[in-house]
Amino acid sequence: MTTNIAVLVSGRGSNLQSIIDNIENGFIKNARISVVISDVDDAYALERARNHGITDVFIDPSDFPNKQEYEKEMLEVLKDNEVDLILLAGYMRLIGKDLIAAYRNRIINIHPALLPSFKGLHAQQQAFDYGVKVSGCTVHFVDEQMDTGPIIIQKCIPVLDTDTAEDLAARILEQEHKSYPEAVKLFVEGKLKVEGRVVVHT
Ligand code: GRF
Repeated sequence: MTTNIAVLVSGRGSNLQSIIDNIENGFIKNARISVVISDVDDAYALERARNHGITDVFIDPSDFPNKQEYEKEMLEVLKDNEVDLILLAGYMRLIGKDLIAAYRNRIINIHPALLPSFKGLHAQQQAFDYGVKVSGCTVHFVDEQMDTGPIIIQKCIPVLDTDTAEDLAARILEQEHKSYPEAVKLFVEGKLKVEGRVVVHT
């Protein structure tokens, strides 16, 4: 059986690209990206989707009175494309409760820090400014709060004395591009079991 994936994006889409590449090269099997959805009409991620023949959809949040109505439209698009799994890849909005309820433990996000430290925006800069000696990335299921859901994979890297915040972000991004495909592969193969807030790899 094929797992139909939707990827939600707002920007450059390098994590989207890593998922596309790892489906195309056979690392992730029995999965396809059915649709890429953006809340920003000129997001480069949409062009990446088109380059690979993937359906791309822009949903304009300003066309809707509130998040609930906006996500109702998104749910229609997800239904039309028979989506089983939602990946957030640089999608800059919090997911509302109706969408979470419809896709409980089937929405995954990637965050550029070792959660639960440095939630929210500019996580790499936050970690750099704090002076941590290791940082990394976290792939996790999405729940009602921001960056709090059960953790699937974390990868860490050392923070070097010579690093700028940009160096650190670039090395974290390299780890993101490995971690996200690994997590998606585990999901698609049915190897992730959520027990409370702990994800067990079966
Ligand atoms: C990544 O750093 C990701 O961890 C964060 O947003 C950024 C998106 O980058 N959630 P890209 O659009 O995938 O290149």
